[in-house]
Amino acid sequence: MCGIIGYAGKNQAAPFILDGLARLEYRGYDSAGVAVVGPDGNLKIEKSKGRLQVLRNKTEDGKLVKGCVGIGHTRWATHGEPSDINAHPHISMNGKAALVHNGIIENYIDLKKILSENGYTFKSDTDTEVVANMLDFYYNGNPLETIRKVIKMLRGSYTLVIIFEGITDKIYSVRKNTPLIAGLGETGNFVASDIAALVSHTQNMYLLEDDEITEVSAEKVSVYDIDLNLIKKEIFKVDWDVKSAEKEGYDHFMLKEIHEQPRAVRDTISSRIGESNEIILDNINLDYEYLKNVERIYILGCGSAYYVGVAAKYAIEKSCGIPVEVDLASEFRYRFGENTRKMNPNFKGASRGSRINKNTLVILISQSGETADTIAALREVKKHGARTLSIVNVVGSTIARESDDVIYTRAGQEVAVASTKALTSQLSVAFLLAEYIARKLGFAGDFALIDALKKIPEQIEELNKSENKIESYAKEFKSAKVAFFLGRGIDYPVALEGALKLKEISYVHAEAYAAGELKHGPISLIEDGTLVIAVATQDDLYEKMISNIQEVKSRGARVLIITNEGNTSAEEAGDMVYYIPKTHEILTPLLSVIPLQQFGYYSAVARGCDVDKPRNLAKSVVVE
Ligand code: M6R
Repeated sequence: MCGIIGYAGKNQAAPFILDGLARLEYRGYDSAGVAVVGPDGNLKIEKSKGRLQVLRNKTEDGKLVKGCVGIGHTRWATHGEPSDINAHPHISMNGKAALVHNGIIENYIDLKKILSENGYTFKSDTDTEVVANMLDFYYNGNPLETIRKVIKMLRGSYTLVIIFEGITDKIYSVRKNTPLIAGLGETGNFVASDIAALVSHTQNMYLLEDDEITEVSAEKVSVYDIDLNLIKKEIFKVDWDVKSAEKEGYDHFMLKEIHEQPRAVRDTISSRIGESNEIILDNINLDYEYLKNVERIYILGCGSAYYVGVAAKYAIEKSCGIPVEVDLASEFRYRFGENTRKMNPNFKGASRGSRINKNTLVILISQSGETADTIAALREVKKHGARTLSIVNVVGSTIARESDDVIYTRAGQEVAVASTKALTSQLSVAFLLAEYIARKLGFAGDFALIDALKKIPEQIEELNKSENKIESYAKEFKSAKVAFFLGRGIDYPVALEGALKLKEISYVHAEAYAAGELKHGPISLIEDGTLVIAVATQDDLYEKMISNIQEVKSRGARVLIITNEGNTSAEEAGDMVYYIPKTHEILTPLLSVIPLQQFGYYSAVARGCDVDKPRNLAKSVVVE
């Protein structure tokens, strides 16, 4: 999604801005631009479709765009195709204001009509240019008052960073439902959509909230509420390692992050397991008194985070016996949203809406903590009185801040669009949490599971060492047009994740099925040479999986089986077998997912795809 950075300082702004935009490239984009207020007070803009390098060449790395305050943007198209004209920043018709925007202005058509009636014309197809002209139309010489007036008329989501003609020392910003932080630097101050853009300049940040308007100069960052009262913000110290944003010798961030998983899982679990295998989740507030009344747990997320939820459902139901529903946040928010019919006062049974109440625990899973649908679902369940617990990677992100409790994964910054180390870290937390809840409820602890969890980092290390086996399979199937992934029980979410990894970066049509579903339709797609990857790690389901494998093999499929060491009968059933080391059966996703990540990665490389910047995708999906 769009990336934003703004700078006001003592140095030339454009080089800082281009450097910041480079650190946001991982989010996915189709065009980039920069704007400054020149020393003469005029607004100067350069923007272009394509990679940031095009903009760098055009501006000689920013040297041609002179001014000490400026704004920059990488655009992920929503309104209007990727083009030079639709790229941000956008300038108002009379040249009074220029801005960059992340999000969607839902009522832009109505606002455009009002502006057109007042003589404004538009160059681009974007909703953003409408906001630039709104600022121009209502500008009264006072930027803060003008911004306040305009945002009251906007509907939708936005992070806006704005510069005004004649104001050579300040930039302004505001957010609603999309992220924005301010960075306190030594030679100037910043705002950005993402901590990653700023960590090389400063560790001191302000986490900005919806409707807070900031005025940023070289000396200070002033934050105002919607009534323009000055607010005192606490400094938030970011402890990210700048190296996490470097490839450190790897060809791609995704490969680096696959290899970082032993460290990521170790960091995530080590301080949470005590000497006697007690589980230490100190900062969460789930005690017996609360848990004994929990009737249902919902787990919500999007993409890979949702698949973690599916795996967690198996773990929690098995260890705690509490019914768990897993839902895509994008669906759930409307299932239980305000449009759910209100309960008929004469009806004495349970209403659909009342299924979420104070005895509902809602677990939200998100790497970024900024996924728009997950945030909306979180806010919705809070309205119904549910208790919320999030599993989040980015410290201080919106989901982390707005949940009642948060457990941070300690994966470090994940740059590649295709999630890997965040997913295994989330799985580790989910399994720890299942065990934690079970023990709080008075069940005997499964100490073998915790012993096995402690061994997972070194077992992943082993799997990373044997990646050339998977690389050779990926090369062999590099021309496959379609692939099927199968699993039963807790292997099913792993199959889902394997299919997503392959499709998102290699563009192979990959589908995952619960293997029992095959005969209900999908098996008709199997023909000679179709690639099937079967995950078969669950002892009680192994024979059933082997039967399903026979069914696809006898219709011509080529089958790669991922199974546990010792399951040598797989050699007869499949064409290729990949063994994972023995672990507790609940924990197998932490190991079986590794070869699938490797398969996705090496398939993309074999096909010549841009692994870290897959087409049409963004790292953090901050619009609906
Ligand atoms: O930041 P989040 O975990 O909330 O993101 C959720 C999904 O957008 C994300 O997992 C996505 O599916 C990845 N591309 C998967 O590799």
